[in-house]
Amino acid sequence: MRKILVVNSKGGCGKTTVATNLAVAFAARGDHVALADADRQKSSLAWAKRRSKKLAKIEALNWTKIDSIGVKDKDLDAIVIDGPGGLRSELTKKLIAEASDIVVPVLASMFDWKATLKFLDDISEIKRIRKGKADIHVIANRINRSSTQVADLEQALSKKGYPVLCRISDRVLYARHAADGSGVFDVNDASAHEVRGQWRPLLQAVDA
Ligand SMILES: Nc1ncnc2c1ncn2[C@@H]1O[C@H](COP(=O)(O)OP(=O)(O)OP(=O)(O)O)[C@@H](O)[C@H]1O
Ligand SMILES: [Mg+2]
Repeated sequence: MRKILVVNSKGGCGKTTVATNLAVAFAARGDHVALADADRQKSSLAWAKRRSKKLAKIEALNWTKIDSIGVKDKDLDAIVIDGPGGLRSELTKKLIAEASDIVVPVLASMFDWKATLKFLDDISEIKRIRKGKADIHVIANRINRSSTQVADLEQALSKKGYPVLCRISDRVLYARHAADGSGVFDVNDASAHEVRGQWRPLLQAVDA
């Protein structure tokens, strides 16, 4: 079973958006998937409550307390975890200790990538990551045509050894899906087609 932790100490970078859409991507292809919310704001749990029973099933788990981490369901193909904000908490350390993949969304603004670089350096010190037992995937989020800083972001990160795996566009449809308890992989129309393609490198990486 893959345990995919979406995390960054920087708030508002798209952790919940990425976690919910990843869970939908797995569910839509028929995987048995759980979405675990480890953030005190419980945004992913709120999202799951709004999800229609007609859509592909995603099991929602409340992992906001350290004792609640864990699943009895051995048949799960994947757990996507909406991570907590801070790196220092025991909860975050435990989640990192168990993750097979760590997905780090980052926005194309200097404040965000500076903070994210520090976060990436901090987690790279963790033994499990040093030993290569968990893969780190950095994804640039909320990119639009006027994001002149994307090239700077990619350069700054790859220089430090963290290449940006994919670019996710800034699209109002993400906010719409968020409010509906859905994701871009729940629909198959033309507008979703283009944005879904942007997730492919990440989906391939976590499948590898
Ligand atoms: N690719 C995107 N396109 C448009 N809006 C986006 C995109 N990604 C995220 N957003 C919006 O940006 C805001 C922050 O995203 P999100 O809640 O996923 O971040 P977060 O890292 O989980 O925040 P927090 O640190 O508060 O938990 C939300 O309003 C969300 O709808
Ligand atoms: Mg969130």
